[in-house]
Amino acid sequence: MRTGSKKVPGQAGRADRHDLYQRAVQNPEGDIEFICEIFREARGRDPLVLREDFCGTAYLSSEWARGDPRRRAIGIDTSEETLAWAREHNLEPAGEDVARRVELVQASVLDVAGPKVDLVCAMNFSYCLLPSREELQRYFRLVRQVLHDDGMFISELYGGTEAIVAGEEERECDGFTYHWEQECYNPITHEGVCHIHFSFPDGSRLDRAFSYDWRLWSIPEVRECLLEAGFSDIRVFWEQVDEEGTGTGQYLETTDEENQETWLVYIVASV
Ligand SMILES: C[S@@+](CC[C@H](N)C(=O)[O-])C[C@H]1O[C@@H](n2cnc3c(N)ncnc32)[C@H](O)[C@@H]1O
Repeated sequence: MRTGSKKVPGQAGRADRHDLYQRAVQNPEGDIEFICEIFREARGRDPLVLREDFCGTAYLSSEWARGDPRRRAIGIDTSEETLAWAREHNLEPAGEDVARRVELVQASVLDVAGPKVDLVCAMNFSYCLLPSREELQRYFRLVRQVLHDDGMFISELYGGTEAIVAGEEERECDGFTYHWEQECYNPITHEGVCHIHFSFPDGSRLDRAFSYDWRLWSIPEVRECLLEAGFSDIRVFWEQVDEEGTGTGQYLETTDEENQETWLVYIVASV
């Protein structure tokens, strides 16, 4: 992942890109509600230990620990700067008890082993940062190894007819605008370059706050690699959309869908 660092004027210059990212893109409450419901339904118990891969600011991990004093979380990310932000802005403000139950590890997900956990989560399409099938399979095998016998791996993936077209879309957030730009896409490799920008009411803009070199994996590729890694059951939960095609935050399990301009799914893989 590449990140922008140029000095910019106005509101953009005073903004914190990690804070904007969390507010624009993440919904840990929704993720936690979904994963707990799925896990309880399938396993008849509460999941307590979660590993958040590609954790970034560890927003999910800190909300996980904050939600129940029995819970623990491990966040894995390669970025020292982002993990430092996580400690200062998410873990320390949550209090000593929460911070103590969240361990942050600076490492590649391709290099970490144990300890055993109930759940591994990889949200916001993060394994699209692994460009080769060999790396994706290696990652899934490592995830499989750290899961308890009744563990689950839950990840998010996106796609659709617009996901492979260069362009920019924007969404209004509280006090700023979020921009998702797909700069280019190579149909031969399924790789592309995407950027997140933020703009503000005073006209200033935080250009390329985050940039990603993606391999846009498809659901069948992910499913095949998960099965090859030893997962036994792969389920797809499709985000429902309203009449305008906007995601509702409600997910239904399905095996057959019409393609959409953009779609979002949770993929649930069971040991
Ligand atoms: C798209 S962000 C995801 C942030 C957050 N998990 C979310 O759901 O929005 C990707 C994160 O993955 C991290 N990253 C990239 N390659 C990684 C790797 N091989 N192992 C662990 N973290 C990695 C980056 O530093 C970045 O924080």
